[in-house]
Amino acid sequence: MAVICNRGNQHHAYPQIAQPRSHHPLLRDHPAARLRAASTNPPPLPHLRRHPRRRRPRRPHYPLSHRSANLCVRSRATQNHPQQVHPRRPPNPLAKASTYNNFYEYGTDKSDPSHEAYRLQTRPWPIQITGMVKKPQTINIDDLIHYRPLESRVYRHRCVEAWSMIIPWDGYSLSEFINFCQPLPSAKYVQFFSYNNKKVMPDEPGYDWPYREGLRMDEAMNPLTLLTFGCYGQVLPNQNGAPVRVIVPWKYGYKSAKAIVRFHFTDKEPATTWNVADGREYGFYSNVNPNYDNARWSQAHERRLDSSTFPRNIPTQMFNGYGDQVASLYAGMDLKKFY
Ligand code: MTE
Repeated sequence: MAVICNRGNQHHAYPQIAQPRSHHPLLRDHPAARLRAASTNPPPLPHLRRHPRRRRPRRPHYPLSHRSANLCVRSRATQNHPQQVHPRRPPNPLAKASTYNNFYEYGTDKSDPSHEAYRLQTRPWPIQITGMVKKPQTINIDDLIHYRPLESRVYRHRCVEAWSMIIPWDGYSLSEFINFCQPLPSAKYVQFFSYNNKKVMPDEPGYDWPYREGLRMDEAMNPLTLLTFGCYGQVLPNQNGAPVRVIVPWKYGYKSAKAIVRFHFTDKEPATTWNVADGREYGFYSNVNPNYDNARWSQAHERRLDSSTFPRNIPTQMFNGYGDQVASLYAGMDLKKFY
């Protein structure tokens, strides 16, 4: 069980991280941002208002998919790595991505998380940085969100169960945060611990909670690995891992731990929930690999879940199509042994 420090008022005492200004829509929409705006700029009392309020021109209303499409093309990372974007397919509607989920703390049915996760309180949300770092510390989620400007990145999202989606995520590279953590040179891995609280999470029995995942340090530092706070330009829905998760687009979805409360730096390959549950099926690396089947099903194809009525069956790509950016991380490794 991850030790979460007293979730009371302590977050005021956490060290402040420098916060550059961001015009990312997620920050504008964020409740914390709204609160801040409200507290620093209280509306003038009507009798003190000198000028009549100016009318703002009405903005045209775009459906969500249109707005998302606008967001995704602006990402710096996307420009540098065109493979990140699926050129022809629009992202899935948010409705699909937020009702068909894996979040076993809320149950095993795909619809369980969207029905149950509203119970989770995502503020205050202290996050621990522990293990082999220069200075173990606890920070709060709003400082973390504002630490770097957010980017929107459209990634393929491939589950080990052979379904996939395309989702525009919002966040910044995990490497930025790891640099802030100042890991010691001896730290070779980073482990993620998800929040766990039986009062709000029914918990599927038979697993060793809290949910844990981990990456080798060079994988975690790869610019594609995203520390994620939103999707579709909005704050992450609870069922998608609010308030913070990681996204590792060249690996099966289970590497992308949700609702993270602790980052632990270590020199040993860390235990991970699915590997502990069944090491034969779920390896530590879990790179998307159409040539290496799961013990129970083929990984050669995937069911692409999008807005179409009938999901298409499409061939799965090595490293989920991100080979140009990540294949070198595994040079010389037997990917059937290190699955
Ligand atoms: N994180 C936690 N804490 N608990 C989980 O059960 N499931 C994983 C991953 N992260 C899981 C988790 C799996 S199996 C997948 S495929 C993805 O989350 C699903 O992410 P999504 O629901 O946003 O599509």
